[in-house]
Amino acid sequence: MTGKPKYYLTTPIYYTNGLPHIGHTYSTVVCDTIRRYKRMQGYDVLLTTGTDEHGVNVERSAKKAGVPESEFVAKMAAEWRALWDELGVQGDEFIRTTDLKHAHTVQWLFKQCRENGFVYPGHYTGQYCIYDNAYVDVKPGENCPDCGRPTETVTEANYFFKLSAFQKPLLDWYAKHPAFIQPEARRNEVLSFVEGGLRDLSITRTTIRWGIPVPGEEPHVFYVWFDALTAYLSAVGGPQYEKTGFWPADVHLVGKEIIRFHAVYWPAFLMAAGLPLPKQIWAHGWLLMDSTKMSKSLGNVVRPRPIVHVLGMDALRYYLLRETVFGQDGNFSYEALVQRYNSDLANGLGNLASRTLTMIEKYFDGKIPDPLLGDKLSDSEDQAGQSIRQIAELMTVSSPSAGLAVWSMENFHFSRALESIWTLISAVDTYLTTNKPWALAEDDTRRGRLSRVLYNAAEALRFVAVLAHPVLPESTTKLWKQLGQPTTLGDWPIDQLRWGQLMPGTPLGKSQALFPRIEKAEAIERMESMENEAQKQPSPVTAPTPASALAAGSTTAASPGAAEKIGIEDFAKIEMRVGQIKTAERIVGADKLLKLTVDIGTEIRQICAGIAQYYEPEKLIGRKVAVVVNLAPRKLRGVESNGMIIAASVGPEGRPVLAGFPDEDVEIGARLK
Ligand code: MSP
Repeated sequence: MTGKPKYYLTTPIYYTNGLPHIGHTYSTVVCDTIRRYKRMQGYDVLLTTGTDEHGVNVERSAKKAGVPESEFVAKMAAEWRALWDELGVQGDEFIRTTDLKHAHTVQWLFKQCRENGFVYPGHYTGQYCIYDNAYVDVKPGENCPDCGRPTETVTEANYFFKLSAFQKPLLDWYAKHPAFIQPEARRNEVLSFVEGGLRDLSITRTTIRWGIPVPGEEPHVFYVWFDALTAYLSAVGGPQYEKTGFWPADVHLVGKEIIRFHAVYWPAFLMAAGLPLPKQIWAHGWLLMDSTKMSKSLGNVVRPRPIVHVLGMDALRYYLLRETVFGQDGNFSYEALVQRYNSDLANGLGNLASRTLTMIEKYFDGKIPDPLLGDKLSDSEDQAGQSIRQIAELMTVSSPSAGLAVWSMENFHFSRALESIWTLISAVDTYLTTNKPWALAEDDTRRGRLSRVLYNAAEALRFVAVLAHPVLPESTTKLWKQLGQPTTLGDWPIDQLRWGQLMPGTPLGKSQALFPRIEKAEAIERMESMENEAQKQPSPVTAPTPASALAAGSTTAASPGAAEKIGIEDFAKIEMRVGQIKTAERIVGADKLLKLTVDIGTEIRQICAGIAQYYEPEKLIGRKVAVVVNLAPRKLRGVESNGMIIAASVGPEGRPVLAGFPDEDVEIGARLK
């Protein structure tokens, strides 16, 4: 037990009959951001995420995959877990509804509700949507109002929960706790739903086999929401929740489509059992693709892995939090994603960091300069430095009138928090442009001035690292090290951030590009083709095809042994041959690409290669290279490319170095095996 105050937040637990897309990623990344922020505020934070593994859908998916349900869900849960790792999500507890401790908690909660008189046996007939695992309010023969798929008429003996008894207690609770449901629009929606009257709920099934048994009442198993919601409690000790000290939860963060289950059913179950209620339910909006909710049943999903692979995890995290106002719906597009990456991350933060640190390296021997060194400042020079300091300090003020980073983060206005941090970045950019440290460096009498300007820029970067860390954990940690900071950034007390804490004389760490610039069309092309490959993959439970595993960058799949290795017959599918470059030219408007013609023995191919920044076209003519010749042709920046030249990707910026044959003059067209 630590003496720190506790903070418990949860993501929804996700269904295991599909793989995560960036809609799920959104909820999880938001929670991880809150977790990191609260931790920097000194809380003992617990973030739980996990998987919702019971129900008809899983029964069917497992059958389709030809494996037992338990095997199916174990593999799927491992996939979900691996993905959150790749996204830097620090889940403290991954709860699975097939965990034994969860089954005990569900059974215990049921017992409490029953003993308190809120459970009774009955029969229920209704239209049931097996895709959403819920009875829906439609007539027989009508489709599900949520997903549009056919419903089934189901009659079964089951146990009912007396939800109707909780109309008044719930309304009283909402009135006493006005911030319980966020945002306001969702609160109003829930209030009118409850005011309209509540029907009792069936909470067990006899039609489903794959579920937690109701003790002594087999074949009854628990209905999916009674089962799923209880996971929040199982994660923190279940019946022994008092011992862990994490219940009640501070925030349950969910998508808006499941607000009713969280803001009506869940508090009612807890009231019935005599347990404390969570403090807040926060429902965010949806990520849309072409104005439609991204969802696996509609098939319009974008997966996070290709994005992480091409742009890095921080790029995706940044985009998700910056582009959409939290609480509202937002649109996803690759175009906007790469645009943001290049403008805000590569040209904004990345460029500022590299400019500043390179100059400190060059002019101050890689040590943080002393702001109090030497010559007197003119008033305007002094003011410019002061204003950077003021902008930076305002970020740390926790007040709505300042409305800046810390306050916005505290109130889950993530896009606003980032916007304000980027105001500081562009102010420092302008500050450097106006003060021209490179010109000051030419004049020995202005050394003091140079030292102050670069100190201010480095100190502002330190502010950015601390403030943006919850959203950009990976790149801010790199920046922190480059600034020579020995502490762990994730533990740094955000509320104690003050101007002047950067110690002059601190040696900088090793420099490293934070966000290498990327050519837009090429990046989109790479992400889209990986996505297409991934979509072809039927289910991770049947072993993935090697090509799609590679394309998806999937090295941490459920069964690592199987996913990492490929058989020789798979390798043999890739036809690589020795080619000779005949012509090479630059492509107008694509500064990274060269258009090559390559003799591969049987024909001359046109191939585009992303090597323009490192190879002079003229010097490539006659060079022998390794070429993948059986890759489907594709267009890069509108130019057809029919094959791929193999190059090593070297260093953090991925500098291409062409593979070659230095030992012998190999024959054109020879196969690489
Ligand atoms: N298993 C239930 C939740 C039980 S919680 C006790 C479930 N699972 S789900 O796999 O369908 O995940 C739903 C959640 O994923 C949403 O509530 C939301 O958090 C997230 N999202 C799924 N699609 C989304 C978008 N298109 N946009 C934003 N978030 C989305 O429901």
